[in-house]
Amino acid sequence: MKQYKVGVIGGTGMVGQRFVTLMENHPWFQLTAIAASGRSAGKTYEEAAGKRWQLDIPMPEEAKNIVVLNAQTDLKKMADQVDFVFCAVDMNKDEVRALEEEMAKYECPVVSNNSANRMTPDVPMVVPEINPEHIQIIEAQKKRLGTTRGFIAVKSNCSLQSYTPALHPLRKFGLDKVLVTTYQAISGAGKTFETWPEMLDNVIPYIGGEEEKSEQEPMKLWGTIQGNQIIPATSPSITAQCLRVPASNGHMAAVFASFQNTPSIDEILDIWKNYKGRAQELALPSAPKQFLHYFTEENRPQTRLDRNLEGGMAISIGRLRPDTQYDYKFVCLSHNTLRGAAGGAVLLAELLCAEGYMDR
Ligand SMILES: NC(=O)c1ccc[n+]([C@@H]2O[C@H](COP(=O)([O-])OP(=O)(O)OC[C@H]3O[C@@H](n4cnc5c(N)ncnc54)[C@H](OP(=O)(O)O)[C@@H]3O)[C@@H](O)[C@H]2O)c1
Repeated sequence: MKQYKVGVIGGTGMVGQRFVTLMENHPWFQLTAIAASGRSAGKTYEEAAGKRWQLDIPMPEEAKNIVVLNAQTDLKKMADQVDFVFCAVDMNKDEVRALEEEMAKYECPVVSNNSANRMTPDVPMVVPEINPEHIQIIEAQKKRLGTTRGFIAVKSNCSLQSYTPALHPLRKFGLDKVLVTTYQAISGAGKTFETWPEMLDNVIPYIGGEEEKSEQEPMKLWGTIQGNQIIPATSPSITAQCLRVPASNGHMAAVFASFQNTPSIDEILDIWKNYKGRAQELALPSAPKQFLHYFTEENRPQTRLDRNLEGGMAISIGRLRPDTQYDYKFVCLSHNTLRGAAGGAVLLAELLCAEGYMDR
């Protein structure tokens, strides 16, 4: 497989640090450039991010001496050094849209973690095991941007990466009503217990914007390409509540679902066990071998025990049982900064490479 030079915009932040560690020993990707705010620009990566390193694995040696570029003034310079970039920045949506489009117009593909472009109709929002075909909209996007190679592709919000994968292969039974409550880790807010001590022994019943994303983004994942845009699906109807809980990493979801043609428990378990997506068919380097893992133990999945399953890229499911008001209820878990953020974006970049979208 070809080797690709990769940049990380926002590389000093929590998701950015994950990107940097995921590039270490990656078989296709070579970390080549890092950009962040003016606060970090001009420093080595070790100077800029060393004191606020948030991961439990060490900073990769290959990253330490990279001099951080300024994400506001050095984008062209970065585009000239790399084949594509990952982007995870803490800026307002208009600024993020402008930054990502500027990079795409420098003919540098952007694989983004940010929410700013998720609902842009010609920007594919992709979970490679769910809607890999949406990358075909990139041709329409390139026409709008006037580019030959540059484009933007995004991954979806971290909350829904736990329950949407489990629901996806069940849609054929006429999935029509879903109620979900998420129990989300503090790293999803870019925090640790050191930086957010108020979260110890606490639950906060509000995460700004999260419930809307949890209800709407799955509809785009399940949408269809029509002309030069992706039209969101109109069913199922989803209602969500999102709570912040005192876990460092790992978003759990309690799910209730009803169908027009209700499958049996055995049918559902069989479908989950045998489900494979495009990421597994292509054997992408970051793809979990078993995408959906069902735990038969009644007290699993557990956040601390199961979030790292298959490098934090697999989805854990448990406690499938009939419900008194919906057809079934069950519990799902995914790692929010791996599958839900940087890992999901790396898998999307691998899909785009394998399908030829990163070729020069
Ligand atoms: N944390 C998660 O689990 C998660 C999951 C999914 C999506 N996301 C999304 O990913 C993005 C990053 O999240 P995060 O948790 O990694 O945030 P973070 O830890 O606060 O990091 C933010 C990054 O953005 C850079 N930055 C801030 N202001 C900038 C500016 N004006 N110009 C250029 N760069 C600037 C920072 O550079 P400096 O270090 O120089 O300040 C840093 O590299 C956000 O859009 C977030 O919503 C996060």
